[in-house]
Amino acid sequence: MIYMSEYRTMREYIEEFPQHITGGLQVGADYTFKHKPTAVKNILLAGLGGSGIGAEIVTNYIDKKISVPVLTCKDYFLPGFVDQDTLVIACSYSGNTEETLYIFEEASKRNAQLVCITSGGKLGIAAAQKDVDLLQIPGAMPPRACVGYSFVQILFVLKHYGIIGDEFVNELHAAVALLEQTHEAIKAEARDIVARIDNRMPVIYVDQHIASVATRWRQQFNENSKILGWERVIPEMNHNELVGWRDQNEQLAVLFLHSGDEYERIIKRFQINKSIIEQHTSVVIDVYAKGNTYFEKVLYLILLGDWSSWYLSEHRHVDAVEVKVIDYLKKSLCE
Ligand code: F6R
Repeated sequence: MIYMSEYRTMREYIEEFPQHITGGLQVGADYTFKHKPTAVKNILLAGLGGSGIGAEIVTNYIDKKISVPVLTCKDYFLPGFVDQDTLVIACSYSGNTEETLYIFEEASKRNAQLVCITSGGKLGIAAAQKDVDLLQIPGAMPPRACVGYSFVQILFVLKHYGIIGDEFVNELHAAVALLEQTHEAIKAEARDIVARIDNRMPVIYVDQHIASVATRWRQQFNENSKILGWERVIPEMNHNELVGWRDQNEQLAVLFLHSGDEYERIIKRFQINKSIIEQHTSVVIDVYAKGNTYFEKVLYLILLGDWSSWYLSEHRHVDAVEVKVIDYLKKSLCE
C-alpha cells in the first residue's frame, strides 16, 4: 500500500481542521437538493470509522432538540423500523466501504429517503444511478482527516428535511473563529497532555452528552498514534467499569473530558470517580473545553484530541497517516 506519496502529512490535515469546517459550510450551502423533503418519522445515520464519527457528533447535537428518533448504524444491516418514512444518510468518504454500500442498497429497496455523503467511489456511482441526492466532499485525504467537511453535510441534509433550522451555520462560523483564535494554545495543551500520557494507554471518560468527542479521541489515538485505548461514558461506566479499578495500574493514563455543560449530578460523579481512580493510577488528566455553544466546545475538544494524537504519534515514532492494517483487512475481505 502506498501512503506517503498519496497523502500529505496528518499534521497538515489537523492544522487545516478549521478551514475544513468553513469549506464544508460552502459545500453544503452550494448544494441544490434534487428531491423535495418529505416528513420523516425517524432518522438513520450510517457510516463507519472516520465516516461514522460525524454522525455521532451530529447526534449529540440534535438528540435532545428534535422530535423524531435518530439512530446511528455501523453495520451491514438496517434496523427493522426503516421504511419509506425514514431518512437514511449514508456516509462513506471513499464510497467503497462495504457495510455502508449494503445499507445503501437495502435502504433503497425499502424506499427510504436516501441521501449520500462521499468523495466518490461505488457509493457515488450508485447514488447517481439511483438518482439519490449526493453531497460530494473533496477527495484525496485520509477519511478521518475529512471529518470537518463530512459532519457539516449531515447538518445540511437535516436542514433540508426540516429536522433542524439553519442556526448551526452561525454556530459553526463562531466555532471556527474560536478554533483559529485558540489554535496555538490548543497545540501547546496537546503537547502537555502527551507529555503526561507518555507511554501509557489512554482511557477517556466523558459525559454521555458529548460521547462523540471521547470516541473521536480514542479513534485518533488508535489510527494516528497506533495505540490501543478505550472510552467510556458517565454515568454508564459507574455501573460496571469502575469496579475494575481495584489494583494499582501504571500502564494507563486517564483523561476526563469536561464540556462545562454537565448536569450537576454528573459533575458530582466526575469528582467521585476521579477520587477513586487516583488511588489506582498516578496519571489522571482533566481536560476542559473552551467556548459557549455545543459546537464551540465539542470542536475545541476534537481539535485538542486530534493534536494530542499527532504529538503522541511523534512521541511513539509512528507514521500518523498510514492505516495499512485496515487496508489489509479490506483487501482480504475481497479475496
Ligand atoms: C481511515 C479511517 C477509517 C475509515 C473507515 C471507513 O482514515 O479513518 O476509519 O473512515 O475504514 O472508510 P470510509 O470512510 O471510506 O467509508
